[in-house]
Amino acid sequence: MAIKIIEHNTIEELKREARDTVDGRYQLRLNTIILAKQGVKTKDIFEKMLISKNTYYHWLHSYNDGGTEALKAIKRVGQKNGNPKYDDKIFKEVFEKLDLMEEYWSIPKMQKLVLELHNVQVPYETMRMRIKRAGYSYKSNRQKEDDKLNALREKAGNIGAFKVSQKYKSKCSSCHGVNGSGFLNGKPMMGPKLIGQNEEELYTKLSDFKAGRKENMIMKGLLIKLNDDDLKRFAKEIGEFPARAKALEESK
Ligand code: HEC
Repeated sequence: MAIKIIEHNTIEELKREARDTVDGRYQLRLNTIILAKQGVKTKDIFEKMLISKNTYYHWLHSYNDGGTEALKAIKRVGQKNGNPKYDDKIFKEVFEKLDLMEEYWSIPKMQKLVLELHNVQVPYETMRMRIKRAGYSYKSNRQKEDDKLNALREKAGNIGAFKVSQKYKSKCSSCHGVNGSGFLNGKPMMGPKLIGQNEEELYTKLSDFKAGRKENMIMKGLLIKLNDDDLKRFAKEIGEFPARAKALEESK
């Protein structure tokens, strides 16, 4: 049974309030009231906002009792009912995208991305925690990211490996390791191991990514700016890694 919502505010006013607030939980509550006012089915609201029935009614009653002030003042009581489970895949995908983003990003931007990609509204605090857990620090501008990437590259280049091209080093080593091992200081990197695969295999995989036959947002995003000759050169170079490693070993 739908409960009546008291006309404290118009939908426009609520939307404005939701847009202007920096409090993610409050924003979620406002959006919930907006959906309810728009006549969206209660069950659909639970699903879209990932909240429980209890939480929904709690918010609605608070709003009815005291308008936006009351809605804003709601304290989270434990995590019993209001703690939806988010699929890890959602965050993984967004973080992969984040790695490719050439621009400034922020938590609201991430929330928007998740909403667009998965139609899931992730609260500000959850997004922040997930980003933190994934080891990302807040990037306030592009420069910071470049610094981080450069540090990563430098590290990757300092593990006493054989010589690689500047292109491989700058474009690939941050995720696959400077020797293509896929490991850095004993920890798996973002990209898998490449060393040991031969030139043809590598070229096929690279062109499959580029053509979209093999699905991977990161690799596709990277390869989009490279032409077929570039792919061949990378495949040839990485194909030579085992021989280079052997030569290095023997020269010691
Ligand atoms: C931002 C991280 C990142 C960078 C930079 C990157 N890769 Fe990758 N790469 C990945 C990930 C993640 C995968 C796994 C994709 C999958 O299998 O779904 C991958 C997969 C691959 C594979 C397929 C491996 C296999 O055995 O399936 C090849 C080949 C490859 N990358 C080559 C490159 C080359 C060449 C570059 C530089 C031009 C590069 N990558 C740069 C993250 C990266």
